[in-house]
Amino acid sequence: MDKMLVKGGTVLNGEVATSGAKNAALPLLFSTLLAEGEHVFHNVPILKDVESTCELLSYLGCDVFRDGHTLKIKVKKPAETVAQYDVVRKMRASTLCMGPLLTKYGSAQVSLPGGCAIGTRPINYHLEGFKALGADIKIEKGYVLAEAKKLIGDTIIFETPSVGATENLLMAASLADGETTIENAAKEPEVVDLANYLNKMGAKITGAGTSIIKITGVNSLKPAEHHIIADRIEAGTLLIAGAITKGEVTVTNCNSRDLEALTIKMKESGFKLSIDDSSMTIHKTSGWQGVDITTAPHPAFPTDLQAQFMALMTLAEGTSVISETVFENRFMHVQELSRLGADITPKTRVAIVRGKNKLIGAPVMATDLRASACLVLAGLVAEGETLVNRIYHLDRGYERLEEKLTKIGANISRFT
Ligand code: UD1
Repeated sequence: MDKMLVKGGTVLNGEVATSGAKNAALPLLFSTLLAEGEHVFHNVPILKDVESTCELLSYLGCDVFRDGHTLKIKVKKPAETVAQYDVVRKMRASTLCMGPLLTKYGSAQVSLPGGCAIGTRPINYHLEGFKALGADIKIEKGYVLAEAKKLIGDTIIFETPSVGATENLLMAASLADGETTIENAAKEPEVVDLANYLNKMGAKITGAGTSIIKITGVNSLKPAEHHIIADRIEAGTLLIAGAITKGEVTVTNCNSRDLEALTIKMKESGFKLSIDDSSMTIHKTSGWQGVDITTAPHPAFPTDLQAQFMALMTLAEGTSVISETVFENRFMHVQELSRLGADITPKTRVAIVRGKNKLIGAPVMATDLRASACLVLAGLVAEGETLVNRIYHLDRGYERLEEKLTKIGANISRFT
């Protein structure tokens, strides 16, 4: 199992580019199942989760060709519309094949994902949505069996906005009969990117990026070509890396409007930022103040940046209150940050962080993707060496993070 050794104390300086968005790439790759023929994607990040998605697509009969950051996917009718436990267990987003398979081929058998380190993460909204469109849903031997000769448009109202359920339903409704309205839809930029690609394929979707999305079903879709949006979570992580080391770092190839919730909080904390549409610069600082954040669906503060922001707050002047409203168990990094000397009191869904003037390196354990990034960030400033174990979580969602950080001055090495 790979580990990462971070030697703290170097100041990061320079320019670093953001890769394509993992959370946009996964649904986009699954959406190819809606149309046989060749789909082309550019700016595809090179990540473990993208690899797992391609494995599942290959299992479903697709031919996948990669040339650097371009992926060509030739889609053919699958012999069986099944996503096995072994794949779904590795990557929960595999459930996103359900909408396309069900609507295109009339059936999907997808292993139910279990719980995960950050919460129970049920998929009931996805299943209730398919049922509303007329699908017959059964759960047998750990699998969801979904069937429908033809889905029929209807109104779906989500209890809370779910990114995955919105995406699964967008794809399913694109080939349904008649009009579907999704109310309380997720407004994340990745949902918008998916809707844009579906429209390029011939779908009729309006309202993506707002809480009401309307989809008029069409009879067929055709493959298209698409440039995937930048990864806002990676961009935010890189910006915080510059901030926590008191360096001057410019993050390029990003969409700064997607990160306003973060940049507003960083400014409130006392950081100076220069921002234009596609780049953000964090300027040198001598210190920052504790600020409170509450995670919530987009455009509020993203849960996927909560752990990284908490690392920053461990070194702030004063106290910050971090409230997590999206996932019920997303404070696994608290105990690990405490091993580095951070002063954090976790309560149910709230953590009180009392800023200290230093962290001290120690061995720590990555528990999930974003918690891994948080520990690397803390390691960048902790005195001495921080050994981050179970770094495979990081590889699921960050393309060559250690290389990118090393290029701007970090001292990081990876070993097995
Ligand atoms: C996506 C992102 C993940 C991010 C999350 C929230 C991808 C591949 N992953 O995950 O990085 O942290 O959005 O921004 O895009 N819920 C239910 N029932 C459901 C679906 C969701 O109760 O059927 C709950 C979840 O447990 C969670 C909340 O709704 O508490 C939001 O989850 P959701 O937006 O669905 O997250 P994902 O799509 O799984």
